[in-house]
Amino acid sequence: MIEKILVFGGKGGVGKSSISSATAVKISDLLPDKKILLISFDIAHNLTDLFGVEVGNELYQIKDNLWVIEPDPHIYAEEYTRDFAEKAKKLMKKMPLVNLIPKLEEYIDETFNANSIPVALKNAIFFQKILDAEEINDQNLQFDIIVCDFPPTANMVALFEIPEDQVKGIMKYSLKVFAQIRGTMRRMTDVASKILNPFGQEDREERRGLADDLLYMMNEVEKRGERITELIKNVGSLRLVTIAEKPSYEEIKRARELTEKYIKTDGVHVNMLIPEGAADHCDFCSIKHDKQKKYLKQIENDFKNLKIWKSHSLRIEPIGLEGLSSLANEVYGVVNDVNEILNP
Ligand SMILES: Nc1ncnc2c1ncn2[C@@H]1O[C@H](COP(=O)(O)OP(=O)(O)OP(=O)(O)O)[C@@H](O)[C@H]1O
Ligand SMILES: [Mg+2]
Repeated sequence: MIEKILVFGGKGGVGKSSISSATAVKISDLLPDKKILLISFDIAHNLTDLFGVEVGNELYQIKDNLWVIEPDPHIYAEEYTRDFAEKAKKLMKKMPLVNLIPKLEEYIDETFNANSIPVALKNAIFFQKILDAEEINDQNLQFDIIVCDFPPTANMVALFEIPEDQVKGIMKYSLKVFAQIRGTMRRMTDVASKILNPFGQEDREERRGLADDLLYMMNEVEKRGERITELIKNVGSLRLVTIAEKPSYEEIKRARELTEKYIKTDGVHVNMLIPEGAADHCDFCSIKHDKQKKYLKQIENDFKNLKIWKSHSLRIEPIGLEGLSSLANEVYGVVNDVNEILNP
């Protein structure tokens, strides 16, 4: 059962991917009996670089209890539309009246293909991976905690809007043809057969089956959209990542407002702070350090009801399991109880 979904968002380049990956690694160390899944929601995936292994559209097991995935929305969209278009065409062929519409088959092919799905809608497919994880039958892959590396703010907000709009979106795109017949599809199969009835009972059953399949596919999209909204509301936490600079922290203030309808923000990461010592030996660092201090105060003031984690810039780029563990230690310090991270 999914107990927690942690979402990391913020301005570009502030360390969302690094901190979300480090967090997933840390939780997997602290909870050896739980299964953790890290999902990249950013089309510009970079978990492969961060972990130094080839992550892709399939689950990749990093260690005993940690998996990562960089879903490819295009592949998912192709699978969905292929299945849908094939069933639709088969059904149409079996419906003498509808079958008279010229070029229907071409039209279905043109309407239902991965390229015709708007990018925004394709992104909804990232969320499907959470639901796939929820529904998975393989005992070995029933995830308890999902960590999501989100794209920069504008795209992040758009992503949250998607599960709610998914139904509308799917309908709008796919139902140039089918919207009209959604409610009447079953009736049409009956009417057509009553009028023409050139087919036997068996055929009618098959048409019914196909129509039911199509309706089922649409209903599934609708249900999954609702389910994901509910999951994110119930067990989701948004962690905003920022650096101690004005544009970046102004952005997370807006991000919190824009997303509060969808998910609860319960923590802020202030990343890439200049270590005290470093500022002593370098003029530039010292100026930057003072600036950071000023903005850090503002952040602490603006987000005083939230948990604030501070992390310094590390000397070595935090990559690979070891690097990410070091970053996790920098971010979270000594953790006595995993709830310090999961439910601050
Ligand atoms: N605390 C840190 N110390 C040193 N380097 C860091 C730290 N945090 C992040 N980095 C480095 O900063 C760079 C940007 O980090 P990262 O890719 O995690 O940011 P992001 O917010 O995910 O970026 P994007 O918006 O492009 O997805 C990376 O090279 C990463 O290794
Ligand atoms: Mg990133």
